[in-house]
Amino acid sequence: MLLGALQQAAEFTLPLHLPAHGRGRGFPPALAALLQQPLGHLDLPELPSLGGPLLPHGAVAEAQRSTAELWGSRRCWFGVNGSTGLLQAALLGALRPGQRLLCPRNLHRSVLHGAVLAGLEPVYYALPFSERWGLSRPVDVGWFQRVLAAAARDCPVDLALLVNPTYQGLSAPLTPLVRLCHSQGLPVLVDEAHGSHFRAHAALPRDALAAGADLVVHSTHKSLPGLTQTAVLHSCGGRISGEDLEQGLLLLQTSSPSALLLAATELVAAWPHQQPQASHLLGRAMDRWGRWRRQLTGMGWRVSPCDDPLRLRLCTAPWGPSGLALDERLLRLGIAGELPEPAGFTFYLGFQPPRQALGRLRNALAQLHGSSLNPPELTGTLRPAPTPLLARAAVPPRSAWFGPTRRLPLKQAVGRVAAEAITPYPPGIPLLLPGERLDEERCAWLLHSRHLWQHPGGVLDTVKVLR
Ligand SMILES: Cc1ncc(COP(=O)(O)O)c(C=O)c1O
Repeated sequence: MLLGALQQAAEFTLPLHLPAHGRGRGFPPALAALLQQPLGHLDLPELPSLGGPLLPHGAVAEAQRSTAELWGSRRCWFGVNGSTGLLQAALLGALRPGQRLLCPRNLHRSVLHGAVLAGLEPVYYALPFSERWGLSRPVDVGWFQRVLAAAARDCPVDLALLVNPTYQGLSAPLTPLVRLCHSQGLPVLVDEAHGSHFRAHAALPRDALAAGADLVVHSTHKSLPGLTQTAVLHSCGGRISGEDLEQGLLLLQTSSPSALLLAATELVAAWPHQQPQASHLLGRAMDRWGRWRRQLTGMGWRVSPCDDPLRLRLCTAPWGPSGLALDERLLRLGIAGELPEPAGFTFYLGFQPPRQALGRLRNALAQLHGSSLNPPELTGTLRPAPTPLLARAAVPPRSAWFGPTRRLPLKQAVGRVAAEAITPYPPGIPLLLPGERLDEERCAWLLHSRHLWQHPGGVLDTVKVLR
């Protein structure tokens, strides 16, 4: 039975992955106390006294009002289908079919699916790529100026998306980026799934709401110690109407949101504002992990730069085991990290690490350091996707998604329009997007990437294309 498998999975000895609460160790005391109560009693739907995220009266509406006040947003809505559901609702609310969404190549697949649902035309911008660390970096001001200038010249857009921080914990200077967009009359949606804890400590990067973004989505289970599936959408300023957003939410929200999950969301969304406790906890984690990073560097591991002190990314290219091979080896030693990639491996260290985590991981890494497990194709060859600074798809994703299709081997798909995304999971970031036409260069890059991503859930050697 699934329950048996769940109990077995929960026994895993050293989990260094999401959700951020780390098997409950990081729950704020109020949430830990809530979960001690008989949960059957509290598993309630939208009763009149409770209401729900889209109802103007009731306890949920009250909780959303006080959460918005804490964060300084105009309004907010809790969601029980993760950032996925709220990003999609935001797109359905903020844009109309045929409008253009400016989005980065590291968009999460939920945004792509939102574009399919809403009939949007995404315009994709490339990100700077770090050869040294084998990963995409967030845009800086100069880069984004070029993106916006190209968009204004070639294909004016209606909403800009920023993904901040990246899955690997790198953050962009949000304030000037948001200002740039606003100076061109462009509203900004920030996918801050991985950054809702930035508010809790002054040494962390400025968060999206503080930077003036119009719409911000937080995964309260990825970057705050909340329950899986919980998330918050914030709306600020007057560029996007609350009524339109509610229309978008209405399309996707269950008619029976769990009051228990919503109550947990309120508790956790308040956590960064419970000062000085939140800041002390983060400060302690930062010191502890900082020391540890130095130890790993001393052992010869390359630790990637990271703006999120709760994440640790080891750069495994071009020497040593690839992140995927390292993952396999660590799993055999009872250690599960968060994000294995061809050139690196990200661990989620969290607010309250498991006891002895550091020692065990350090010993395992000492044992594995220098082992040569790379597939031969990997060494020294990780490279960014050959995509221009700004690109429109040949066909809108919705038409590609629902069009008449056939499946072809990648090599035979050159010249064709993709009808599906190619997305290794995790991280859920597409390498090819539906509606994009595949050329020789991109096909060669995809075949190369396929070798690097070979593992369950990796990349197929075929793709669905439009007939
Ligand atoms: C950047 C980003 N945005 C959104 C999501 C979706 O989040 P959720 O799992 O809360 O639906 C993810 C999930 O990995 C993500 O990495």
